[in-house]
Amino acid sequence: MKPKVVIGNWKMNKSFDEAEDLISDIEDALDGLNINTLVVLSPPYLYLELTTDHAAEANFECAAQNCSQFKNGAYTGEISANMLADLDVEFCIIGHSERRKYFGETNAILAEKVNRLTEVDMIPVYCCGEVVEERKAGTHFEVVEKQIKEGLFHLSPEAFERVIIAYEPVWAIGTGLTATPQQAEEMHLFIRSLVEKKYGTEIAYNLHIIYGGSCNPSNALELFSQPNVDGGLIGGASLKAEDFVEIVEAAETVGKEN
Ligand code: 13P
Repeated sequence: MKPKVVIGNWKMNKSFDEAEDLISDIEDALDGLNINTLVVLSPPYLYLELTTDHAAEANFECAAQNCSQFKNGAYTGEISANMLADLDVEFCIIGHSERRKYFGETNAILAEKVNRLTEVDMIPVYCCGEVVEERKAGTHFEVVEKQIKEGLFHLSPEAFERVIIAYEPVWAIGTGLTATPQQAEEMHLFIRSLVEKKYGTEIAYNLHIIYGGSCNPSNALELFSQPNVDGGLIGGASLKAEDFVEIVEAAETVGKEN
């Protein structure tokens, strides 16, 4: 079985000192564990270098939360994939529902961002997921299919192999309303079958599809035990070292059982 992936998305939280403490606490807690799980911390841009400095000595990696759709140039306030790669940032979250909602990111823009990342051999963590109205209307599969096809399916098989997909039902983000393990499994299986049709069985099998939305130490084990849930994208619970490490331990436990 492939190792699980657990990514902590800090969003726009923590002062520099708090970030330093959180990174060190996670580093110390993981130091004693011989873990197989791929652990990734995704702090705000300003703390990326701090995180990559620690990551060089620790058993976690570092992700940005966004990148520009452009390579370089007169785009005030933007950060390019090249700049991130220069800092040894290997992963980048793309298309989080908060970016789609508050910053108008469309599937077409996200497809460009994915291109910028794969061009510099970074790993896009491509987010998808329906809002509550779409879930209630029963259109959630269609919505996710469109997000995946328009944002990712232009990639060559070689580029697609680098991608991680995060299914984050928007109604479960920050609400305490987790998708049931069955709802998560059903959608992950659906996503994997889309990928299988497009890229074949081997690439679909190797793809990591992780779940996000109110994932915490008390539900992580059950979610990660689903056959198509390959880990988690953790928001609120990644801001406390203890909770985050417990989620990593849940991923380890499931990884060992299989
Ligand atoms: P919460 O875990 O706080 O629900 O956030 C999930 C998320 O958006 C991770 O990207």
